[in-house]
Amino acid sequence: MKQRLIRIFFDSFGEGEAPRIFFAGGRVNLIGEHTDYNGGHVFPCALEKGTYAAVRLRDDSKRLFSSANESKGWTSYPNAVLSALKERGFESKTGFEMLIWGNLPVGAGLSSSASLEVVVCYAFNALFGWELSLVEMAKLCQRAENAFVGVNCGILDQFAVAMAKENTAIYLDTDTLMYEYVPLKLQGYELLIFDSKKPRKLVESKYNERRSECQTALKCLKIQALCSLSMAEFERCFHLIDDEAAKKRARHAISENERTKEAVKALRSGDLASFGQLMNQSHLSLKNDYEVSCFELDTLFSLLLDKKGVLGARMTGAGFGGCVIALVEGDKAENIKTEILAQYEKITGLNGACYSGGIGGGPKEL
Ligand code: GLA
Repeated sequence: MKQRLIRIFFDSFGEGEAPRIFFAGGRVNLIGEHTDYNGGHVFPCALEKGTYAAVRLRDDSKRLFSSANESKGWTSYPNAVLSALKERGFESKTGFEMLIWGNLPVGAGLSSSASLEVVVCYAFNALFGWELSLVEMAKLCQRAENAFVGVNCGILDQFAVAMAKENTAIYLDTDTLMYEYVPLKLQGYELLIFDSKKPRKLVESKYNERRSECQTALKCLKIQALCSLSMAEFERCFHLIDDEAAKKRARHAISENERTKEAVKALRSGDLASFGQLMNQSHLSLKNDYEVSCFELDTLFSLLLDKKGVLGARMTGAGFGGCVIALVEGDKAENIKTEILAQYEKITGLNGACYSGGIGGGPKEL
């Protein structure tokens, strides 16, 4: 991999000193969806697939970018990270040449953008010896996305990518940023990621709409964060929310937060069956209360629920397309993959994909 990237780098920018090469993974959220901007818990892990950055400093002030993928518009992410760094007083003193290559499917909701942001931040931090911590990098990349890309996301993606550990999920309280690592002991089960390949549209506008619906609920309840309430507390003040949509959004955020806590407990005690049940409930809540699922994701979900050897499934990420994850019996995984994708194509006409979820580590230099 390293040699191949160096070769492409030389072809793009010319021979000479070898670039330094960095990597950051993508992420998949196991449970805890749309809770991160409501002060709740999330439970993501990183993927082995991700984004590579080969970087070499220049003597002049030119900033040159090149991509080994056929993608457009991606330079706004490194530029956003550079702007967020500059805002904090970290400025690259010289120009540079940067080659990016990634093997994450773009637009599948596996955080190819957070992976790109974090690898760029990590690379500059190493090149200039700024000594930013990984948590600071996660926050800075979130700031980059909020202020300079213009997506009002929470901390989930950047934190998951920056703080990842192999074969481990991160149980994060987004209110305090306290976190714990939980080993992913799947006891012969496997995590499969089904990509609906549904082109994601309107994700950003719908995402921001959900955020403002949560704000409406907050105002009615006169509290700071939805997930500061338990379900029992919410049921007592539910009637104070006078907007039907806001009521449903709040019910999702609060119930999802409780499910996330339960799911982590279940995983810790080796109760994968309960973990699977909670995944299913999460999907239904995202579909019915949060209304961020879609026909394609629901199709994958229903097909998976009907299969023997599947403990649970749910859409993951922001929604409106993207992926469904499933916890499946290892021995049956291959058959399940083939059968689900064939049935899915018949129903939707879409050629989906399935990735085996290799759980990757944090950012690194190769
Ligand atoms: C996107 C955002 C995250 C999070 C999820 C939903 O991935 O970037 O901050 O809100 O959606 O859980």
